[in-house]
Amino acid sequence: MRLYSQKDVDKKALRGARIAVLGYGSQGRAHALNLRDSGYDVVVGVRKGDSWTKAKKDGLQVMEPRTAVKGAQLVAMLVPDLTQKPLYAELKTLLEKGATLLFAHGFNIHFKQIKPRKDLDVVLIAPKGPGDLVRRQYQQGRGVPCLMAVAQNPSKRAKAKALAYADGIGGTRGGVLETSFAEETETDLFGEQAVLCGGATELVVKGYETLVEAGYQPAVAYYECLHELKLIVDLLHEGGITKMHRFISETAKYGDLTRGPRIVNKATKKEMPHRNSARQICAPMDRGEQRRPPQVFETVESGFGALHRKGWRPTARQNALAGRRRKLDHPCPRAHYSTRYGRPMKSSPRRPTRPRCSTSTCTWFMRSPRRRLSAC
Ligand SMILES: NC(=O)c1ccc[n+]([C@@H]2O[C@H](COP(=O)([O-])OP(=O)(O)OC[C@H]3O[C@@H](n4cnc5c(N)ncnc54)[C@H](OP(=O)(O)O)[C@@H]3O)[C@@H](O)[C@H]2O)c1
Repeated sequence: MRLYSQKDVDKKALRGARIAVLGYGSQGRAHALNLRDSGYDVVVGVRKGDSWTKAKKDGLQVMEPRTAVKGAQLVAMLVPDLTQKPLYAELKTLLEKGATLLFAHGFNIHFKQIKPRKDLDVVLIAPKGPGDLVRRQYQQGRGVPCLMAVAQNPSKRAKAKALAYADGIGGTRGGVLETSFAEETETDLFGEQAVLCGGATELVVKGYETLVEAGYQPAVAYYECLHELKLIVDLLHEGGITKMHRFISETAKYGDLTRGPRIVNKATKKEMPHRNSARQICAPMDRGEQRRPPQVFETVESGFGALHRKGWRPTARQNALAGRRRKLDHPCPRAHYSTRYGRPMKSSPRRPTRPRCSTSTCTWFMRSPRRRLSAC
């Protein structure tokens, strides 16, 4: 395993280069601002609209993607994965000869949705965290660790350029780990579906339902199963399971070691891979669960190939599941309201002039400003 840090960076690799950041969303905004603050000549490529206005307000040079890539030695493709293919097709002939095409996730290269021109260097710098953290950590003098990979290297300088880019967004402060497009894509998809999103949310939901069905108050069950998760995740993030064990009670540690393996058990693990887990990815999302394979994962081609061709919309069944999950969040704003005002929340509380609750852990709150207003 090779971990790169600031001392490995060849600052000359991108010196004087113009960097076009396409997309000004979660990653795009963080990368563009960090690169600018690191002294690079940055131009943002977006359509006219909210992102355009936001980037202008942040003091960046903003252009349509077709104009932004002209003269850019490095183009960072930071629009959503499912829109990268048509955008690349539109820009393919406009990219400078010998430019570097950079991705923050390997999806489109690994699944051959984008086949870049042969003269382009193609690299990956994938921060292991959301964009707002990439920006915040940079401003605090720290950095989110990144994965780095090279898919095409006609200039023989692709890795040096990728490392310089990672340094520009603060990644080398946290460490840059070398990988391949395949490994980054497959582990990222596995992680988000089996552990981080699919796994963790389902554990929360099932735990919440169990407590409520046993007669406990929904708000208390919510706090126990969802709200407190952050405290544990923070400990795990800071110092792994060792640190978590140092800070939790004896009963919690007993539960972890004796009940944990009973809840998430061999059967759960058996659901995860199919034969060779490294090469098997993802349920057929576009077909819903109609033809559910015996395990969570199925082949890349049947899963994401089809997903990419048609785009993914949740099936009626998946929408119903999302609806059931959203109901779980209701007690949270109600509990906040009761704690704050000492009385239960009415169905339509008086609308305050501005939102006063900034609970960042409550998804139901955060999803809709209208709800946020009416609940606080
Ligand atoms: N989010 C994360 O935490 C994270 C972490 C690691 C890696 N990544 C990777 O980073 C990449 C970007 O993801 P993201 O989450 O940052 O995306 P995002 O927030 O959804 O990006 C939205 C931005 O892309 C723009 N956009 C969408 N379609 C466009 C088009 N056709 N032409 C020009 N601009 C367009 C949007 O502009 P409008 O306002 O005009 O729609 C908006 O500025 C992806 O490859 C993703 O896998 C994301």
